[in-house]
Amino acid sequence: MDNPYLPREVEVIERIQESPDTFTLRLRFTDPSQHASYRYAPGQFNMLYLYGVGEVPISIVSDIEDVHMLDHTIRAVGRVTKALATLKTGARLGIRGPLGQGWPLRQAQGQDVLIVTGGLGCAPSVSVIRHILRRRGQFGHLTILQGVKHSNDLIWRDQYTTWAKQPDTQVLLAADVTTADWIGQQGLVTTLLDDVNLAATRTIVMLCGPEPMMIATIERLLADGIPPTQIWLSMERNMQCGVGHCGHCQIGPLFVCRDGPVFNYPTVAPLLGVRGF
Ligand SMILES: Cc1cc2nc3c(=O)[nH]c(=O)nc-3n(C[C@H](O)[C@H](O)[C@H](O)COP(=O)(O)OP(=O)(O)OC[C@H]3O[C@@H](n4cnc5c(N)ncnc54)[C@H](O)[C@@H]3O)c2cc1C
Ligand code: FES
Repeated sequence: MDNPYLPREVEVIERIQESPDTFTLRLRFTDPSQHASYRYAPGQFNMLYLYGVGEVPISIVSDIEDVHMLDHTIRAVGRVTKALATLKTGARLGIRGPLGQGWPLRQAQGQDVLIVTGGLGCAPSVSVIRHILRRRGQFGHLTILQGVKHSNDLIWRDQYTTWAKQPDTQVLLAADVTTADWIGQQGLVTTLLDDVNLAATRTIVMLCGPEPMMIATIERLLADGIPPTQIWLSMERNMQCGVGHCGHCQIGPLFVCRDGPVFNYPTVAPLLGVRGF
């Protein structure tokens, strides 16, 4: 990336409505040579720039081998994301990225992997799940725990069913409020840990979702004997520059855009849940 502030043009090649307020934009660079040379790691994000409206950080959810497409799953919550929701196939926008540090895939090789996510916090973990499942032999047992507030909030239901059928893979779902067709348990995502057999010394944990949920999960994992250095989490903060210059995403001495969004737990432990950070 030559100038980190200069967006490159991409085109929407497909738009998928995932739920009433969540959609996936499948993008391709309008310059084929840029598309061919674009590389990213699971857990990294792009700044999506809608001309004349604004720019937002959004995780990349496609697998790095899906070179023909670049997927971003977006929840329409405010000004820019609601405008992105109106885009149709053929629309053009800018992207800057890939940005930030992704998941610790080198450390996870040969280890069991536990992925715990809450709400749309799933987006940063989807690319790492796809990465592991495509390279199944390189990793140990894979456990995916997903919690949502309401069972209707779960997107990618079919995908969870498909993931659960993969070798050496366990998928457990929880919702605080459930409907009759719910296929998981009722309760918080942390309750799912009761049904998981963790080999504490060889499990790498990857967490994303609301901070209170991550804090509660970490407390439980530490009590279960998981060493703090084996816990990684993806953080979210309001962002502007995305490259460590403006300070908008700062937590203590760290910039979430540049030093994260994926952090090793001991690095952020003193800052988690502290008012003002
Ligand atoms: C590294 C990173 C990866 C992200 N990945 C995704 C993703 O894959 N999919 C997705 O839907 N969203 C993702 N987000 C969140 C997304 O960037 C925000 O929802 C978006 O910036 C909101 O912009 P807006 O203009 O639509 O809303 P605004 O009009 O700015 O705000 C609407 C509401 O969202 C809140 N908000 C604004 N920015 C954030 C933020 N960064 N985090 C949490 N709440 C915020 C505001 O406080 C307000 O309540 C990610 C954020 C980060 C930092
Ligand atoms: S967004 Fe500017 S420093 Fe992180």
